[in-house]
Amino acid sequence: MNRLAPSILSADFSKLGEQVALIEKAGAQVIHIDVMDGHFVPNITFGAVVMKSLLGKTKLPFDVHLMIADPDRYLEEFVTENTEIITVHAEACPHLHRTIQHIKSLGVRAGVSINPATPVSALDAIIEDLDVVLLMSVNPGFGGQKFIPYSFQKIEELKERKQKRNPALEISIDGGITADNLKTVTDAGVELVVAGSAIFGASDIENRVKELLELMK
Ligand code: DX5
Ligand code: ZN
Repeated sequence: MNRLAPSILSADFSKLGEQVALIEKAGAQVIHIDVMDGHFVPNITFGAVVMKSLLGKTKLPFDVHLMIADPDRYLEEFVTENTEIITVHAEACPHLHRTIQHIKSLGVRAGVSINPATPVSALDAIIEDLDVVLLMSVNPGFGGQKFIPYSFQKIEELKERKQKRNPALEISIDGGITADNLKTVTDAGVELVVAGSAIFGASDIENRVKELLELMK
């Protein structure tokens, strides 16, 4: 089943709990948590403390997207009763195979994300080890950017590998998803769709979530 993961990067942090309750009520299945360090990406967001403030306030699983250098140092901090996936960037991990095993040893699903300029083939040696691949369809760092069309080619290449080598792999996409392109990405094979500004920028968040969920059925 396809799932929608609203990214709280674009939420109003002064009422984060309320907004998360809204997306949960509307039927979103996952919360996407964008952690940025101002080093791997040119922006700083928040860390585990903010993520943990949601514990007890939502039953939704956390999809933790670490856009940070040297993520191995911080993995444990992001493991909570809500954490389903921890995703690191291939570009940030010189010992990616080891990092994936580290994530799995913490009892959560292991994801790897690749930037728009990183080819899908960069994952060829580890594709069987992955639970999730998060294709960046914008350069990570900011919400509200435009979807890069070459991402469709990458979805295709990843789908081929999934079919041949790891049928359980979950294909995810992040960046520039709107009501106009969501159906095209799920039709192409994306199963976990991240959307930030398209959801939290809407005047009626609850209805926007329902509208997107309808499109990806
Ligand atoms: C970008 C983040 C995304 C971001 C997506 O670096 O990883 O998760 O929130 O935002 P939109 O959906 O607005 O492109
Ligand atoms: Zn993200």
